[in-house]
Amino acid sequence: MKEKRTLMLPGPTPIPEHARQAGAQKIIGHREKECEDLLREVTEGLKYVFQTENDVLALTCSGTGGLEASIANTLSKGDKVLVLCTGAFGERYATIAERYGIDVERMNFPWGEAVDVTRVEKRLEEDTTDEIKAILMTHNETSTGVINHPQPLGELAEQYNCLLLVDAVSSLGGIELKTDEWGVDVVVTSSQKALMTPPGLCLVSVSPKALKAGEDSDLPKFYWSFKRAKDRYDRDTQTPSTPALSTLYVLREVLAEIREEGLENVFRRHKVVAKAIRQAVQALGLDVLVKDEKIASKTVTAIKLPTEIEFTILRQRLKDEHNVYVTGSKGKLKGDYFRIGHLGNVSRTDVLATISALELVLQKEGLEVELGTGLQAAQKVFLEEERR
Ligand SMILES: Cc1ncc(COP(=O)(O)O)c(C=O)c1O
Repeated sequence: MKEKRTLMLPGPTPIPEHARQAGAQKIIGHREKECEDLLREVTEGLKYVFQTENDVLALTCSGTGGLEASIANTLSKGDKVLVLCTGAFGERYATIAERYGIDVERMNFPWGEAVDVTRVEKRLEEDTTDEIKAILMTHNETSTGVINHPQPLGELAEQYNCLLLVDAVSSLGGIELKTDEWGVDVVVTSSQKALMTPPGLCLVSVSPKALKAGEDSDLPKFYWSFKRAKDRYDRDTQTPSTPALSTLYVLREVLAEIREEGLENVFRRHKVVAKAIRQAVQALGLDVLVKDEKIASKTVTAIKLPTEIEFTILRQRLKDEHNVYVTGSKGKLKGDYFRIGHLGNVSRTDVLATISALELVLQKEGLEVELGTGLQAAQKVFLEEERR
């Protein structure tokens, strides 16, 4: 039974079986030609998913390392940045910048809502001395399940001559992000989310504008240096330090699979699964945090916990009785909401298994839930999609 785990977390996510097996390949020397081929293929595959011609660097760390790197490589001590905070991960980006001695101005938005672009525009208009060097934002705020659309912010960054740094850790490969077309200077994601690969790699795209800004950056960096990574890749298709080889093997397979499916279809699949989850839990009488469909995440959904049940009980029962894994909430939502992740290698069957398990657990906990109501709502979404 343990093998049949249904991982419905906003990362790490399940790995397609053939890709998972690729991770068991024999280790090669990271200065060998074979490794150069591996890195080249992965980099080309990533450019497709990032929709970019910019450099894409593979750093050996999780997403947070990439967020640090995005700051350390593009900014200088005392620079002013505007951090758009719509939840816990926006907060984290701000905190990292502060630790690097950046002058952080947080622009806070209510949790569960998206960035209000007019407020950002107004603030940039007021910045007549061009103090603000960068806008930092979270594409998909994993703590609330909200999508912040980078395109209008890319336009503002261009107009007001600042950089746009985007945390796309829980979105890239699941929600559309047109890096070049939308003018995003740095995009950070990590392997264990929509890229369906084990943890261990952080993938970062860097625009020429960001590289140029980096030339003047005085923040300390060695392991995180974009320049070292780019120079080494340009020179001999290698990484400066030993890369996470086994993770790269898996990522190569996954990227080939994504290309075969086609990005449009990948995004469509995420939309359908997200809609099915939303409709199902609402049919069961549960409240979703994000009411507005337009900004509702396609990779994670925050759901209000019914007062009758504590999160620890819900999680434990889903896990022990059904092998379904969900997670709690963070920051100010902790204890009030739980989250279902639905990104990467999550199938319709996984959705149905999760909703079915949820119905059973809620009913056993004494809630008035009619078995099958959530399932039917999800099934309807799938049927509608097939008739499209
Ligand atoms: C939006 C976002 N940013 C950053 C992180 C941190 O990523 P990691 O745990 O890979 O360091 C996460 C993790 O869930 C995330 O969802």
